[in-house]
Amino acid sequence: MRNPGPEIENLRQQLRRHEHLYYVLDTPEISDAEYDALIRQLQALEAQHPELITPDSPTQRVGGKPREGFVKVRHSAPLLSLDNALNEDELRDFDRRVRELLAGEPYRYVAELKLDGLSMAAHFERGQFVQAITRGDGEVGEEVTENARTIKSLPLRVPADWPRFEVRGETVMNRRAFERLNAERDERGLSRFANPRNAAAGSLRVLEPQITASRRLDYYTYFLLVEGQPAFDSHWESLEELVRLGFKVNAQRKLCADVDEALAFCAHWEARREELPYEIDGVVLKVDSVPQQRKLAFTAKAPRWAIAYKYPARQAVTTVENIEVQVGRTGALTPVAHLKPVEISGVTVSRATLHNEDEIERLGLQIGDAVVIERSGDVIPKVVRVKEQGGSRKPFHMPAACPVCGSRVVREEGEAARRCVNANCPARLKESVLHFSSRGVMNIDGLGEVLVDQLVDRKIVKSVADLYDLTVETLANLERMGEKSATNVVDNIRKSQSNPLPRVLTALGIRFVGERTAVFLAEAFGSMERIMEATAEELQEAEEVGPKVAEAVVDFFREPHNRDLVDRLRQAGLQFTYRSTRPKAGPLKGRTVVLTGTLPTLSREDAKKMIEAAGGKVASSVSKKTSFVVAGADAGSKLTKAQELGVEVLTEDQLLDRLKLG
Ligand code: IVH
Repeated sequence: MRNPGPEIENLRQQLRRHEHLYYVLDTPEISDAEYDALIRQLQALEAQHPELITPDSPTQRVGGKPREGFVKVRHSAPLLSLDNALNEDELRDFDRRVRELLAGEPYRYVAELKLDGLSMAAHFERGQFVQAITRGDGEVGEEVTENARTIKSLPLRVPADWPRFEVRGETVMNRRAFERLNAERDERGLSRFANPRNAAAGSLRVLEPQITASRRLDYYTYFLLVEGQPAFDSHWESLEELVRLGFKVNAQRKLCADVDEALAFCAHWEARREELPYEIDGVVLKVDSVPQQRKLAFTAKAPRWAIAYKYPARQAVTTVENIEVQVGRTGALTPVAHLKPVEISGVTVSRATLHNEDEIERLGLQIGDAVVIERSGDVIPKVVRVKEQGGSRKPFHMPAACPVCGSRVVREEGEAARRCVNANCPARLKESVLHFSSRGVMNIDGLGEVLVDQLVDRKIVKSVADLYDLTVETLANLERMGEKSATNVVDNIRKSQSNPLPRVLTALGIRFVGERTAVFLAEAFGSMERIMEATAEELQEAEEVGPKVAEAVVDFFREPHNRDLVDRLRQAGLQFTYRSTRPKAGPLKGRTVVLTGTLPTLSREDAKKMIEAAGGKVASSVSKKTSFVVAGADAGSKLTKAQELGVEVLTEDQLLDRLKLG
């Protein structure tokens, strides 16, 4: 066989480029499916030629094995912490000291956002990523190389000339990933991470690289060191070089002529911190010139040439007036603190989630206590700690029965939450109906909390399917409903019948099946029936559907009452089939391909996925409509048929060329 080396290298280069475009620059050029197809193509080639696998190959991000524990490693130079300035005066004091120590020399500051994550050093040799070390105590950290390798915004190979160099930066989890992770943990009854920083730390310091990989961490660099020293005489220039090398560097940075400009930068981002996709807790100011940094030197614990301007924590102190228990869609009981209303960064807060009974115990919280509450990452504020015990405080106990329907509640082994065992619990039903009608799902305007409460309490709605039997008369008889609003709601319910299948799927409230997954399922299977009948294995053929999601889908449709619900929704006239609206673009757009025989490197599934990712369709039999047949070893009747019909026959190599060229 021909030498696969150049093809492998070419694929790696393409993949590295696309990773950089996607994870670092946030400007992808190809779809996820196309990226997956390329990765699979490379995996297939590497499987044939294991001797050509290198640790910096894009396939090797999750190759690492679980380990026994972490090895401690000494840093090339300590990772120091920074002194804080808590307000403008303190920042001006810092600037005054800098000015005095530099005795009249002109100087500039680099202002960078202070991302709230954990710092990490990454070492490179001959352009290859070789080691990552957490900050640890600043002198000695823990080696987390295999975990760091899974962070897609950390390039594994860069075009640098130094034989060895080191970058330092912040490992963070952005808000979306954080919220998704916590929602997933809620679903599974696991304890939540308190904030994105803890989640990032908990994800990097795990023994299983697969876990880190699933957590979608990001790595923003802010130092470039050669032999433990800054690579350039200007910090700003180091940052620019990091960008050129392909590292992620926060775009929100500024070279400031003086402290006033720096303060303006601080104020600008303080007002807009909510708009950022990640949490920040302030701004870091560094004197730009490295010779000047040397002159300013260090105190015992921090550099004199840099400072952290810290934003006030978004916290407040208030009293817990009561603790109420809510029952969610899955039956989970969630204790919620009712607070004396208080303002945190412009928002009045009167409730905070307490998550579960373990959390209340951990906090040592009782009703009547003064507490510190915080808004961070999560939209819902949380109680951080008890500030002062109330004079007539009352302990809180989770109820032994569902506060809504009185059924038994159980706490399964390994679960943090107690759940109501009654599948028809009105509270669960209310949440299900609200989810069903919500924006982005079935979008039924006017079907809000007040109405749903009445419908469920009066037993008019006993299942979401009952919504489609509602009449104007029934609704008009309810409180706060006139003829007109009743007509509107009934109209909106009727209109919801035309929502496409992915929305219907989302509306069912299957664990882990949100909007995006629902689209992929609909794309892959085309109808509700086919999704219901699919095995867990088949479901995983859909994009982004892994074992966990597949299992949840199978479990859902195994339940007889869920099947009944789906049946009634079908009778109600909802959309159960799906025609893809995605333009099938790509080099094989509109082509129908038939595969036969054993291909030299690609499995059937891989070849199919690649053809589909390129916009083509794979059919199982040859006809006049077949665009071409790809034949491997031991091809049988399909090949003969193609030759009879004069349909073009390609080898795997030729297919790979077509995938590139069309
Ligand atoms: S420079 C010697 N730059 O804040 C200077 N730190 O207290 C050391 N951080 O441990 C840090 N963003 O985890 C620097 N742009 C940034 C930063 C940053 C976040 C964190 C880092 C460090 C802590 C400083």
